[in-house]
Amino acid sequence: MKRIITGLQPTGCITLGNYIGAIKRMVEYQERYESFIFVADMHAITVPQDPIMLHESIKSLIALYLACGIDPKKNTIFIQSENIYHANMSWILECHTPYGELGRMTQFKDKSKKKQNFSSGLYTYPVLMASDILLYDVDYVPTGQDQKQHVELARNIAEKINKKYKEKIFKIPEPLIGKRGAKIYDLVDPTKKMSKSALNPKGVIYLMDDEKTIRKKIMSATTDSEMKVVFDPDNKPGISNLISIYASLSNKTVAAVEKKFKDSNYGEFKKSVADRVVKTLIPIQEKYKKLINSKDIDKILDEGRDRTSLIAYEKYDKLKHVIGLYR
Ligand code: TYM
Repeated sequence: MKRIITGLQPTGCITLGNYIGAIKRMVEYQERYESFIFVADMHAITVPQDPIMLHESIKSLIALYLACGIDPKKNTIFIQSENIYHANMSWILECHTPYGELGRMTQFKDKSKKKQNFSSGLYTYPVLMASDILLYDVDYVPTGQDQKQHVELARNIAEKINKKYKEKIFKIPEPLIGKRGAKIYDLVDPTKKMSKSALNPKGVIYLMDDEKTIRKKIMSATTDSEMKVVFDPDNKPGISNLISIYASLSNKTVAAVEKKFKDSNYGEFKKSVADRVVKTLIPIQEKYKKLINSKDIDKILDEGRDRTSLIAYEKYDKLKHVIGLYR
């Protein structure tokens, strides 16, 4: 069985973009792949965090995974910081990553532009992500479009190390980007990614938004004056984004959505999109409320930590030996 891994940062509130780009797909893939899913809590501290909020967000993200349908029997679920090999291996990988290559990461360029005193971790974070991936010999890495460049970096690092030490230490992973919804855009400014850190919350649907808020945000989403439900991201970014959301959540193709709404006006189409989002998110929220204090979560996480630590240790130890870090 092919193996996959993905992670989400436990920062702020998880968005519909995170759900469509990553979590929903992991729920589909768990039937087909040996799946690992984790909370990327060490990634979260690349920017300042409030310790109490961070602590709460970690467990809450696990409850959310389960509420979304991530099955602990079909996935290994764990917290990144509970497995010490991620950071240890990251250091060795960092020492094999050219400085300039990290400077080319578009996410770093965007994030560092917005901050004055950003941490070195913000710069080196894609190497930690490479470590998350390479420790497990995965075949694929399901993510949204915004993480593709980071997965490509992981491939480059793996290829470079395999070549340098003339040994197949790492499997070369492939990014697995969804056909639909690989990038969900902000509802107010549909030229920007829907992001947890958006300044205007009206453009972002959070998985915990109540029904009224979801409907209001979708009904006031930016569109255009043409009144045609047609997918044309360059000229109609707002409508195209709503089509992507509807297509992803109803498992339909973009063409099928265009056909279904060919005679609808924007008000009718938006209402159907809102209905679809509500139908998806409200049951998740109800399950989440039941799960958040569940004792089962600790058991799942203990098992995840123990299993992944064994796998990760082997890879880390192999790398240490190959490069001469042993007695
Ligand atoms: P993060 O926490 O920013 O995002 C989690 C996942 O959600 C996807 N995503 C989106 N997809 C579609 N539309 C959007 N608007 C949108 N916003 C976010 C992201 O692509 C991602 O799949 N570095 C990663 C976490 C990470 C990771 C890993 C992922 C750490 N190590 C190893 C995979 C494998 C991150 O910050 O994702």
